[in-house]
Amino acid sequence: MDLRTFLEELESAGELQRVADPVSPAFEVARRIAAQDGQPLLFESLPGFPGWRLASGYLARREHFARALGCAVPELVHRLAEAMDFPQTPPWVIDAPCQEVVETDVDLYRLPIPRYHPLDGGPYITAGVAVIRDPDYGRNLCFHRMMVRDARHFTVRVVEGRGTDTAWRKAPEGLPIAVCIGLPPHVLLAASMSPPKGVDESGIAQALGHTPLARAVTAPLEVFAEAELVLEGVLTQTLDIEGPFPDLTGTMDGQREQPVFRVDVLTHRKAPIFHALLPAGLEHKNLMGMPREPTIFAEVSKVVKCTGVAITPGGCSWLHAVVQIAKQGPEDGRLAIEAAFRGHSSLKHVVVVDIDVNPYDSADVEWAIATRVQATRDIVIYPDQPSSSLDPSARQIPGQKTRSDKIGVDATIPWGEPPEGFLRVRYQ
Ligand SMILES: Cc1cc2nc3c(=O)[nH]c(=O)nc-3n(C[C@H](O)[C@H](O)[C@H](O)COP(=O)(O)O)c2cc1C
Repeated sequence: MDLRTFLEELESAGELQRVADPVSPAFEVARRIAAQDGQPLLFESLPGFPGWRLASGYLARREHFARALGCAVPELVHRLAEAMDFPQTPPWVIDAPCQEVVETDVDLYRLPIPRYHPLDGGPYITAGVAVIRDPDYGRNLCFHRMMVRDARHFTVRVVEGRGTDTAWRKAPEGLPIAVCIGLPPHVLLAASMSPPKGVDESGIAQALGHTPLARAVTAPLEVFAEAELVLEGVLTQTLDIEGPFPDLTGTMDGQREQPVFRVDVLTHRKAPIFHALLPAGLEHKNLMGMPREPTIFAEVSKVVKCTGVAITPGGCSWLHAVVQIAKQGPEDGRLAIEAAFRGHSSLKHVVVVDIDVNPYDSADVEWAIATRVQATRDIVIYPDQPSSSLDPSARQIPGQKTRSDKIGVDATIPWGEPPEGFLRVRYQ
């Protein structure tokens, strides 16, 4: 399924809101998305960008992923785990819709690239999936935010150690790169995953849904045939300032020297749809957090009976998780805490709950903490652990891994005590 078909499905279900009045990509689009976070929007009139439309928020709720993958919300974690374990080879196509229009006279200012916040370093692409090839590990997909530098160039945030970074460091002449924008949910999900090096995320995408590939026009790469827009070129060895820009946490990320992307050719569909992810919006959060749920689930399942994992939006969908277990022994809560931290090394706080508590409902989780936790018995503190660089309160030392204290809360019913006193009254 491509993005257009998915938007049609959302519309038939009454979930897509069309915005017919003119909305400028300079700040106004961001303001509208933020005001309606959680609501899929299709902006149909972008002043100064005739022929373009802009979509946002089509993955702002778990139900959207479930719809795209054809399963129920609690099954998502299993679908993702299965796709990671059993990737499939994507098919090839010759006449790719993403190449209906080919522009070699590149002018990035003709694209409706939004400006999100007045402090931003420039207009930003936030939903671009980069396809690159590593000489040792093969094809790799990775999201990269990209700041417009001039009519043909971006500066690209390339996090150290990620697939793109590893390949770029091996390419003294620059790394061929194709950035695809306007992708369906299953491709975006696959691109958000971090499988072991050498595992091609487009195989994970194909395991989740139909993902045809096509040869890029100039770059020695493959692109997503059904993407709305593709930018082909080279990630050069030139560095320039990238940022500031809002981070996943909703706080402002600063400036860094980052690689410059020279765009050589731009291809797109007719009447293209640009995809804009609001930084720190629910769509951004889901794409970051959901792919970590199966990795936590797998680790916790090695030690106890795990029945669910939720990475929660209040914890920036990165720093907090709730793990649901079917408790079978006195140490299960503590074992689950330790395993959860192994399953997602950026995790800072984890709460373990029983099967009668809904891990997706923060009020329910808080109820379990209120009624089942005694601090000296149930809280574990791990001081000074390797942690997430996204946490503004963590200890950041240049050139070293960020460090933070971590907390695990065992909010399960204490072992050995009669459970009746801990169960919720159900009115008949
Ligand atoms: C919405 C979103 C935005 C992201 N932005 C960036 C980014 O700007 N730079 C970056 O290096 N990684 C970014 N990431 C992380 C990578 O896309 C992701 O972790 C990827 O799977 C890394 O895999 P790799 O190690 O195979 O490259 C982002 C992820 C998501 C979901």
